[in-house]
Amino acid sequence: MKLEDLRRDFGRFIFNPDQAGQSPALLLKKWLEEAEDRHIPEFNAMVISTVGVNGRPSSRVVLLKGIEEDGLSFYTNYESRKGHELAENPQASLLFFWKELERQVRVEGIVEKMSYEQSKKYFSSRPLDSQISALLSPQSRPIKDLDALKSEIAAYNQLHQKPACPLFWGGYQLKPDYFEFWQGGAKRLHQRLIFEQKDSQWIKGQLAP
Ligand SMILES: Cc1cc2nc3c(=O)[nH]c(=O)nc-3n(C[C@H](O)[C@H](O)[C@H](O)COP(=O)(O)O)c2cc1C
Repeated sequence: MKLEDLRRDFGRFIFNPDQAGQSPALLLKKWLEEAEDRHIPEFNAMVISTVGVNGRPSSRVVLLKGIEEDGLSFYTNYESRKGHELAENPQASLLFFWKELERQVRVEGIVEKMSYEQSKKYFSSRPLDSQISALLSPQSRPIKDLDALKSEIAAYNQLHQKPACPLFWGGYQLKPDYFEFWQGGAKRLHQRLIFEQKDSQWIKGQLAP
C-alpha cells in the first residue's frame, strides 16, 4: 500500500449552489434521499464530534434518526463518553460522507436532550434485543470482556420482560447554526456551499476548496 500515491479525481456529479434553495435542512434531506436511492449502506451514519471540559475533541459514528428544520436527532447512552462531554459542553459537529456521491456535509450547533417522553417513544419502537442491550450495557465504561454482559443479557431474556426506557438512555437533538455542503469537483475545484444562521435567517455563501 502506498498511501502517498493514492488519489482520485472527483467531478462525476454536478451540484449547482444557485439551485440549492434556502433551507439547509431540506437540502440535507434531499442528499440523504439521494444516498438512499443509491443503496449506500448506513447512509444515515454520521460522525459526531464532542469536546469536554479538557478541550480534547472526540469523534464516533452514530445514526441520524430524524431531521427537522430545527434539529437533527440521534439516540445514545447519556452516561457514555459523548454523553458526559455533551453535558459539559453542548457544542458539537456532525459529519456525513458519501464517497459514492463524492459528497460531504458538515453541521455544527448546540445539542439538547430530548424529553423522556420522546426518548421512550423511540425506545419502544426498537427491536427487543436493542432495548435490552441499551438497558444492560454501561456504554463507554471499562469491562473485562463481553462475557459478563452476554450472561446478563441471557438472564434478562429468561424473564420475558419488555424493558422500560432507562433514564440514562435517550435522544439528543443538534440545533444547527452552520452547514457546509461539499461536492467533489474535477481538478480539486470542489463546491463548498455554506449556510450560516444570523438573526434567525440562513445566509448562504461559498468557500474556496
Ligand atoms: C455504523 C455505526 C452506527 C452507530 N450508531 C450508534 C448510535 O446510533 N448510537 C450510539 O450510541 N452508538 C452508535 N454507534 C457506536 C458509537 O460509534 C460508539 O462506539 C458509542 O456510541 C460509544 O461512544 P462514546 O464512548 O464516544 O460515547 C455506532 C457505530 C457505528 C459504526
